[in-house]
Amino acid sequence: VDPVQEWRDIVGGANVLTAPDDVAPYVTDWTGRFVGRHTTVVRPGSTAEVAEIVAACRRSGTAIVPQGGNTGMVGGGVPLHGEVVVSLRRLATVGEVDPVGHQVSAGAGATVEAVQLAAAAVGLRYAVDFGGRGTATVGGSVATNAGGINLIRYGGTREQLVGIEAVLGTGDVVRRMTGLVKDNTGYHLPSLLCGSEGTLGIVTEARFRLVPAVEHRVLAVVAFADVPAAVAAASAWRRGLRDLEAAELVLHDGVSLVAEQFGLPLPFPVAHPVYVLVEAAGSTDPTDELADAVAAVAGVRDVAVAPDEARRAALWRLREDHALAINRVGVPHKFDVTLPQHLLGEFVDRVPAVVTAELPDARTWIFGHVGDGNLHVNVTGAPPDAPALDDAVYGLVVAMGGSISAEHGIGTAKSRFLAMQRSPAELAAMRAIKTALDPDGIMNPAAILPPVRG
Ligand code: MLT
Ligand code: ZN
Repeated sequence: VDPVQEWRDIVGGANVLTAPDDVAPYVTDWTGRFVGRHTTVVRPGSTAEVAEIVAACRRSGTAIVPQGGNTGMVGGGVPLHGEVVVSLRRLATVGEVDPVGHQVSAGAGATVEAVQLAAAAVGLRYAVDFGGRGTATVGGSVATNAGGINLIRYGGTREQLVGIEAVLGTGDVVRRMTGLVKDNTGYHLPSLLCGSEGTLGIVTEARFRLVPAVEHRVLAVVAFADVPAAVAAASAWRRGLRDLEAAELVLHDGVSLVAEQFGLPLPFPVAHPVYVLVEAAGSTDPTDELADAVAAVAGVRDVAVAPDEARRAALWRLREDHALAINRVGVPHKFDVTLPQHLLGEFVDRVPAVVTAELPDARTWIFGHVGDGNLHVNVTGAPPDAPALDDAVYGLVVAMGGSISAEHGIGTAKSRFLAMQRSPAELAAMRAIKTALDPDGIMNPAAILPPVRG
């Protein structure tokens, strides 16, 4: 049997895309760095259809790349080797919010923003938030354990997950969507599937806890002379600022790039080397609490407080639109790393020289989630494949005791480096899980685990 015909029989001809123009948006990632091969895109409309597609792919030995909003950063969601793309975007239903249990279920194809809006409509809130909210999907955010800007207060996607439905690589459907918060009944499959990047199965639905909505929110941009002062301040705020929601670090060159690219005002009349966006939110106005917390830290050069919602949104864009602005300079090579907090300053000092030692004309842009030690190093002016650059930057990260992936995952971009971070015993355990849940090795085979050399 022709596999494509089989897929058409399962999802209907209109949901199997083969024409180059139709397939193109699914083949290349949004940054333009990961360019896949022309392939077929299958768009199932139900969990049962996903299960039938996986079963058919097992029979034909066809490798699958599951895809949500295609906002990933590590080449884990595009068909680099011509895998069939299974797009989950049609599974976009957001369920009714449970007003007693404070939870909501959503299909893999719903956007993160749709979940946020559903929660907000009943005075609750989905706590995970990041710049790609309007495009990134529930399935992709679960599959990658997306982090984002409020992680310091509420945790990442895994911490919100109270239920999951997924089609495993075996074709079996696992579903546990009761949302019982306390549920010590054996292995916790939601936690395992969260962050598995489509290598064990396809997430079709998820259930999330919601947190109380906050009525009062205030943002300050605080200028510092250097990164260590900013890190020390963020540390003090984590300890002493009860309503702290976010502490995000940006450098002047990144801020001025975003301002210039999108016509936004700069936060201060004069430039300062480092800025931290610090936001507090609570059921009472946290402005005074925030002002006291800012006044209590050393090395503050200037402070801008958003007087209203419009200005707050404009200031946030100076941080959130970094990725979009950098994309306008060139195709970025992204490093998403965590360092021990006390070494963030040293890392920021050292990394540009490590980059230019490999690629003299490349530019390094650094920003990130200073509250949890996660920095984004974006390099423009590098070819899509730059192994010497990868070796140099990850070498520095590992030598300094950091992690090569904080919140973007391993994908295909970093699988070569996984063994730098995980012991042979850990890798063997991961492989055993992979083999059990995906016995034919058809689930996103190029992602996470490096190919076994035989
Ligand atoms: C962000 O926090 O803006 C993204 O995770 C970083 C990136 O695009 O490198
Ligand atoms: Zn980030």
